[in-house]
Amino acid sequence: MSFAAFTKGQRVALTEEFTIALIQAGDFKDIILMLDNPKVTEYLFFAPAPEEVYQGYFGPIIADITQAIADGTASEAPVAIIQDHRGRFMGMAGLSKVMFLVGNYDVGYQLPEHAWGKGVATAACRYMTAYAFQVLGAHKVAADCYASNTGSYKTLEKCGFIVEGRQVSYYRSSEGFDDRLLYGLTQTQYSQSGVAEGVVG
Ligand SMILES: CC(C)(COP(=O)(O)OP(=O)(O)OC[C@H]1O[C@@H](n2cnc3c(N)ncnc32)[C@H](O)[C@@H]1OP(=O)(O)O)[C@@H](O)C(=O)NCCC(=O)NCCS
Repeated sequence: MSFAAFTKGQRVALTEEFTIALIQAGDFKDIILMLDNPKVTEYLFFAPAPEEVYQGYFGPIIADITQAIADGTASEAPVAIIQDHRGRFMGMAGLSKVMFLVGNYDVGYQLPEHAWGKGVATAACRYMTAYAFQVLGAHKVAADCYASNTGSYKTLEKCGFIVEGRQVSYYRSSEGFDDRLLYGLTQTQYSQSGVAEGVVG
């Protein structure tokens, strides 16, 4: 794994089975296809939505990342695409900078159904969290999820995140309402957790 090569836009090894690279314009079609599955969007507050909304969200992110690669700098909102060794889309993971707060980032991940249950989310979340602390100089990375989204909060816990709060009936769901779980990890907690081991930047 190489953060330097990843930052330059190169596809690098994530695990023995999967690779990871910064998003490119051509990846958008895989994202649209993934978000067309109600099982994927069940716990996503921003989906389903019309394709123009996704374009409006991802367009500027892809443009920013493309510019950062051209400038030789690290984007502060890196979105990464995971593939298997045949080049099949296995999901995405991203960091977003919290507005106005220096050193604060949020992490998120979404996988198409065929990629579930293979450890992809854990590997990708671990990689992006390491990238936030080791490359972007984060002092705090946070994440949130629906309380019913067991796969998501287990992923966060496997990556060392600590539950910091619960907002009751925050999200609308097919069942009525669901709580929002708030997770976080400080730079100090991250260094002491041992989660960083195995993620070589
Ligand atoms: C939630 C999601 C990211 C999990 O991805 P994944 O690659 O299958 O997760 P991993 O294989 O890394 O598994 C992490 C842990 O969660 C558990 N897990 C994963 N999916 C689960 C599920 N549906 N129910 C219960 N546990 C689950 C795994 O067993 C593993 O725990 P373990 O090591 O103790 O067995 C994936 O299902 C997904 O993308 N869903 C749709 C989009 C979404 O909800 N994104 C998160 C928004 S916050």
